[in-house]
Amino acid sequence: MAILARMDRHEWAARTLSVRPGDRVLEIGCGHGVTASHVCAELAAGPREAPPRFVGLDRSAKMTAAAGRRNAAHVAAGLAEFRTGPFPTPDLGAEPPFDVAYAFNVRLLWTDPAAARAVAGLLRPGGRLAVFFQLPAWSAAVHREVAARAARTLTAGGLAVAADGQDVAVESGYVTAVVPPG
Ligand SMILES: C[S@@+](CC[C@H](N)C(=O)[O-])C[C@H]1O[C@@H](n2cnc3c(N)ncnc32)[C@H](O)[C@@H]1O
Repeated sequence: MAILARMDRHEWAARTLSVRPGDRVLEIGCGHGVTASHVCAELAAGPREAPPRFVGLDRSAKMTAAAGRRNAAHVAAGLAEFRTGPFPTPDLGAEPPFDVAYAFNVRLLWTDPAAARAVAGLLRPGGRLAVFFQLPAWSAAVHREVAARAARTLTAGGLAVAADGQDVAVESGYVTAVVPPG
């Protein structure tokens, strides 16, 4: 009998994000680095550059330590790094812009236009932000409400909303937005 492995929310988010191997990617609130490991696997086919092309940020040192351990091979290969600090953090602005930024279950990103604006400032023109969320008791209606709030937040932060969706199998939803060119 074939046993089908169920995709979890982290793998689902990485698939939804669909990064290209050459992308430079920022995760805000990376937690244990589980989504990061799926995203880094997709980036691994691309070039190794300094600074590393995947940056995972979390305000908790415990979380970034755990994320670093989970992704030790990507860190050792110079692909990924995990930094401790609150977002927005000024040092990221001094680096090359990101192509993609995302956050999963980080409330700030769907409630605070200033945070959305700060992400927009770290992305290249045309770069994109994906905000993922999983709610304790899944409901299509509640997810639509959160997605609408996220869309308002991202728009107020100067981004152009591109898409949204939800997947009952992982009890999660998302909104994506892009930085308008020029
Ligand atoms: C609910 S956890 C989600 C972790 C992970 N993204 C996941 O989906 O499993 C939220 C994480 O975001 C981090 N976080 C929340 N606000 C933050 C901020 N302003 N700057 C940096 N990290 C933040 C927390 O420390 C925590 O690790």
